[in-house]
Amino acid sequence: MFSSISSGISEKIWAGFSGSRITLLTINGDIRDREHGLEIARKHPGVNGIMIGRGVFSDPFCFRKSKTDADNHKEELLALLNYHLDLFDSYQPILGRPFETLKRFFKIYIRDFDGAKELREKLMHTTDTDEVRQLLEKV
Ligand SMILES: Cc1cc2nc3c(=O)[nH]c(=O)nc-3n(C[C@H](O)[C@H](O)[C@H](O)COP(=O)(O)O)c2cc1C
Repeated sequence: MFSSISSGISEKIWAGFSGSRITLLTINGDIRDREHGLEIARKHPGVNGIMIGRGVFSDPFCFRKSKTDADNHKEELLALLNYHLDLFDSYQPILGRPFETLKRFFKIYIRDFDGAKELREKLMHTTDTDEVRQLLEKV
C-alpha cells in the first residue's frame, strides 16, 4: 500500500482518505518494524494506524519502542520460543496442527547468538514440544 501511495497512482484515493473525518486508514505491506511504520506515518499525516505482518518473522521485537538490550537478547528470544510452545500446546487440541508445522518458526527465535545454528539443527530433529523444551533448558 505504501508503494502505491508513494508512486502517486492512488493520490486521489489517498486525498479522500486523509481528508475524511469518518474513515480511519490503516496501512500495511513490507513495514519492517515500529520505527519504519512511524517514519511512513510522518510522511503521510492522514495515516491512523500501521499493521506489521511478516516483519515479526525477521524481528520478533519489531513492535517495541526501543530495540532490545543486547545483554538479555538471547534469554528473551528463548523465553519467546517457550511462550510459542505453550501457545501451540494449548491450541493444538482445537486446531489439530501437526508438530512439524511449528519447526518453521524456530529460526525466528534461535538466531543471533553463539551456538544458534547447532541448536537449530538439533531442534529440527525433535518430535514434540517437550523435546524442544528439554533442549532449551540445556542452553
Ligand atoms: C503473523 C501475521 C499475523 C497477522 N495478523 C493479522 C491480523 O490479526 N489482522 C489483520 O488484519 N491482518 C493480519 N495479518 C496480515 C498483515 O497485517 C498484512 O495484511 C500482510 O501480512 C501484509 O503485510 P506485511 O508485508 O507486513 O506482511 C497478519 C500477518 C502475519 C504475517
